[in-house]
Amino acid sequence: MTATDAPTASGSGTAATEKFTAERVSADTPPERLAAIAKDALGALNRVILDHEVSYAEYRVLKQWLIDVGEGGEWPLFLDVFIEHSVEEVLARSRQGTKGSIEGPYYVADAPELPAECTMPMREEDRRGEQLVFSGQVTDLDGNGLGGAKVELWHADAEGYYSQFAPHLPEWNLRGTIVTDEQGRYSITTALPAPYKIPTDGPTGQFIEAQNGHPWRPAHLHLIVSSPGRHPITTQLYFRGGEWVEDDVASATKPELILDPVKGEDGLHRVEYRFALDPAE
Ligand code: BEZ
Ligand code: FE
Repeated sequence: MTATDAPTASGSGTAATEKFTAERVSADTPPERLAAIAKDALGALNRVILDHEVSYAEYRVLKQWLIDVGEGGEWPLFLDVFIEHSVEEVLARSRQGTKGSIEGPYYVADAPELPAECTMPMREEDRRGEQLVFSGQVTDLDGNGLGGAKVELWHADAEGYYSQFAPHLPEWNLRGTIVTDEQGRYSITTALPAPYKIPTDGPTGQFIEAQNGHPWRPAHLHLIVSSPGRHPITTQLYFRGGEWVEDDVASATKPELILDPVKGEDGLHRVEYRFALDPAE
């Protein structure tokens, strides 16, 4: 990679913002509920200002920072790091199957379909790194296999870059939609991901530094697992003992989502995982 094509916060942020705004999302929030949420949100912010006796100079710095986050296209990044985990926690209250986790800003729909036993699309340099054979089954809550379920998998490369958010990577690098066999089974060979540093060269980075925080997420796989008649599950899987598993900047780890891969004599790391999907009612 050269200095000119190295991804930046504003480069990946702009791509994430463009992808998000293209969706034109909506929610069926009743007006009374919306009013109550808006009132409490403003109340909480005003309380912080009064409690900390925020000055005019500080208020103006806040205004500038908010403008910078928007202009840098960093709202998806900032919100998914610091806020999404609470929204996911609310969703998790109504689910019994496999635990969910945040989606983050780097999901892209319609990744190419791959058979139940497959190797993820990856560059030669990704193939030269440590490889993971990730296998298992998609089931209902009673453990019955769900044939034809979809396992959408995406993750960063060993340098922490996601395809379509870093200009030097092939379009679908380390992204795929795996279709399970008749028993709901899958076996996917992919590059073992590394810890991921969220971009720090923009206003989100300034915010982290201001809190004396760190910008790291533990190595992770992102997944959306779905099957007709079931609630899809959006989740992430982590690696036991990995750096930052106990101190994720995005607060998105859960004990049930930690894998224990074993390295075989052939050099491959192997691990199994079962996804249990809730009925859609
Ligand atoms: C992620 O890749 O998991 C992620 C990136 C930025 C914000 C939140 C999550
Ligand atoms: Fe990620």
